[in-house]
Amino acid sequence: VPLRDEKRDVTQDVLDLLDGKSIVHSSEDFPQVPQPEIKAALDRLKSRSMIWYETTDSEQVLLTGEAETICNEGSHEYKVWDAVRQNGKLSIKELPKHVGADSAKVGQGNAFRNKWIKKDGDSLVLLAKEVEDSTRNLLQKIQETKSLEDPKVLADLKKRKLVTVSKIISYTVTRGPKYAKEIPVEVTDLTAELLQSGEWETANFKPYNFNALGAPQNSGALHPLNKVRTEFRNIFFNQGFVEMPTGHFVDSGFWNFDALFVPQQHPARDLQDTFFISDPPKADKPRADPATEAQMEEMEAGSRKLFASPTKKEPKPRDYEKYWNDIKEVHQNGAFGSIGYRYPWSEDECLRLVLRTHTTAVSTWVLHRLAEDPRPARYFSIDRVFRNETVDATHLAEFHQIEGVIADFGLTLGGLMKFLEDFFSKMGIEGLRFKPAYNPYTEPSMEVFGYHIGLGKWVEIGNSGMFRPEMLEPMGLPKNLRVYGFGLSLERPTMIKYGVSNIRDLLGHKVDLGFIESNAAVRLDKN
Ligand code: PHE
Repeated sequence: VPLRDEKRDVTQDVLDLLDGKSIVHSSEDFPQVPQPEIKAALDRLKSRSMIWYETTDSEQVLLTGEAETICNEGSHEYKVWDAVRQNGKLSIKELPKHVGADSAKVGQGNAFRNKWIKKDGDSLVLLAKEVEDSTRNLLQKIQETKSLEDPKVLADLKKRKLVTVSKIISYTVTRGPKYAKEIPVEVTDLTAELLQSGEWETANFKPYNFNALGAPQNSGALHPLNKVRTEFRNIFFNQGFVEMPTGHFVDSGFWNFDALFVPQQHPARDLQDTFFISDPPKADKPRADPATEAQMEEMEAGSRKLFASPTKKEPKPRDYEKYWNDIKEVHQNGAFGSIGYRYPWSEDECLRLVLRTHTTAVSTWVLHRLAEDPRPARYFSIDRVFRNETVDATHLAEFHQIEGVIADFGLTLGGLMKFLEDFFSKMGIEGLRFKPAYNPYTEPSMEVFGYHIGLGKWVEIGNSGMFRPEMLEPMGLPKNLRVYGFGLSLERPTMIKYGVSNIRDLLGHKVDLGFIESNAAVRLDKN
C-alpha cells in the first residue's frame, strides 16, 4: 500500500474520528499537525459536503527560555534572597558567584523593592524570613494553562521578554450531509468510454476546487534593487542618456580623485573613507586600454546617434601624457586660470589603487573621451561603489550610485535645477529644494531635497553640480562646453518603495531570500 501512504494526510483520520464521535477539535485531536495541512484536508472534505467546520482564532501565551528557567529554579529575586538566607550575610561582591551574574543584576533590585533583603555596609542581610515567589508561581500557571487574563500583567511580561503570544487557529469539525467513512472513488476525467457506456450519467465526478492555489514554482527572482534599477534606466533612456561602462570596481587614485580635482590631502581620500588595494601595489599611469576602449566606442556610437557633432571634425586622439601633466600642474601650481591648491603633488598617491568611492570616476573617463569630439551628450550609470563607513541601519560599506552627466554648450545652473525637477518628478517627487554644498569637482554644488510624504519631512535625495574647469579643461574640452553632474543612491528610493527600514534587510548576508522572492515588481509613480 505504499501509494496510499505517500498520499496520506489527515483526511482519512478526520473521517475515522467522526465515525466514533460527533465533534472533532483540531487543537485536541491533531495538536502536532501544522495548521495549513489540517485546513487543506478539511477543505477537501468540505467541498464534497462530507463535513462542516468552523474556524476559531485564539491566542496562546508561551514562556520564553528565561521564563522556563525561572519556573524550574525560581525567580532572580528569589535566588538572591535564598542565597542571602543560606549564608546569613553575603557580601555584594560575592553575590554573582552564588546566583550568576544575570540574577545578581536583576534580582537584587527586586529583592530590595519587595523588602526581602537590605543592605548592611557592603553586604546583604535578610529582612523577610519567608517569601512567596510570585513571579515563579505566575509563570508556572501560564505554563500549565497557556493563557493569562490580565492584559496589564501580560504586557509587562512581554516587555520583560518572559512570554510570547502566538495566534492559533483551530477547527471544530462535524459530519456533513454526505459523510461517509471513506472518500468515495471519484472520476476525474470524462473519457470516451464513459460517454459511450452511458456511465457518465451516474459516475461520481470529483468536484473542481476553485480555491486551490497553484503549486509554487521553483524559479529565480529579481532582487528589489534590480527592479528599481530597471525603472531608473528607463527614465534615463527615455531622455536620451546612454549607459556608461562601469565594470571596473578598482581604479587608480588618478581617475577616482586627482582628475576630479580632489586634493591629495582631502579627508575623503584617507583610510577612513576609502578602501585601498595593497596588491598590486600600484596602478599604471593612465593609458588607453583596449577592452575599455571597445566598450566606450559602443557607448559613443549610441550617443552620436542621439546628438550629432556640430563640428564634424576628425576626432583628435587623446594625449594621456599631457593630461597627466596638466592634472599635476592644476593641483600643484594652478593652470587654466585657476590658482590651484599649491601643494607638492605626489605621483605615488595618484597611482594608489582604490575601490572606487563614486561612479564619477567613470564619468571622468567618459568626459575625457568626449574631448576627442566635443559635442552635446548625456551619460548615466547605476553601479556599485565602496566606502569604508561604519555599518549601521542606513549605511553599508558598499552601495549603488545612480549618476547622470549632461554636457552641452552654454549650460547654466538654472538649467540643472530645471532638469533635476523634471527628473525627480518622473519618480513621483514633485517640487525640490536646493541647498548650496561643496564637492571638490563641482562649482557650484547643490544638495537636492525632496519632500517625503511618508516621513513628513524634507529628505536629502541627491547631490549635484557643474563640473569645474580644473577638471574639464585638462581633458581638452572647450571652455564653453559645460557639464552637469548629479548622483543619488539606488538604495534609498528602493528602501522607501519596499518599506524596508534597515538596509541590511536589502543587501548583504542577512538578507532573507523569501523577501527577495516574494516581492512584487515596483513601478515608480511616473507622471
Ligand atoms: N560623486 C558625488 C557623490 O559621491 C555625486 C555627484 C556626481 C555630485 C556628479 C556632483 C556631480 O555623491
